[in-house]
Amino acid sequence: MKIKETLKKKEQDYSLFSAAADAGITMDQMDALITAQQGEEDAVYMYEQLAKTVRDEADREAFLRLAGDEKRHSDVFRKYTGMDVKANPAKGIFVPLMYRVLGKKKVYAIIAQGEYDAAEKYKHIIDDFPEVVEVMNDEVHHGDAVKGLL
Ligand SMILES: [Fe+2]
Ligand SMILES: [Fe+2]
Repeated sequence: MKIKETLKKKEQDYSLFSAAADAGITMDQMDALITAQQGEEDAVYMYEQLAKTVRDEADREAFLRLAGDEKRHSDVFRKYTGMDVKANPAKGIFVPLMYRVLGKKKVYAIIAQGEYDAAEKYKHIIDDFPEVVEVMNDEVHHGDAVKGLL
């Protein structure tokens, strides 16, 4: 790793460490929360991009609602991490492309499964952070909602 990258990484580690100390949580917990926050931000961007792509008006509105939910979820995690996380655009680029190529039926099934998988992952976080229960339940509803568009 180049010196500049090493320094940047150290800086990030340090700010994570100090944010964890401020919040009174362990680094493992901080890692899990940051990962969750990243997933939520990625989902916001993905649903926004999908809303711009889909042909059905009802689907567009549904995806904008989901994007709003994911933003609220991200805020739940941000309260603990104290950090802003930027969306990784990969899913926001890839999923609308899949919609165009594979069609709505296949893609919505994949998205719904992603929501159920997210809910499953949050099972490990709720012991330490009970507020995340609502986020977890939302993800199950999201999966059902996306399936309901089919
Ligand atoms: Fe979410
Ligand atoms: Fe979701």
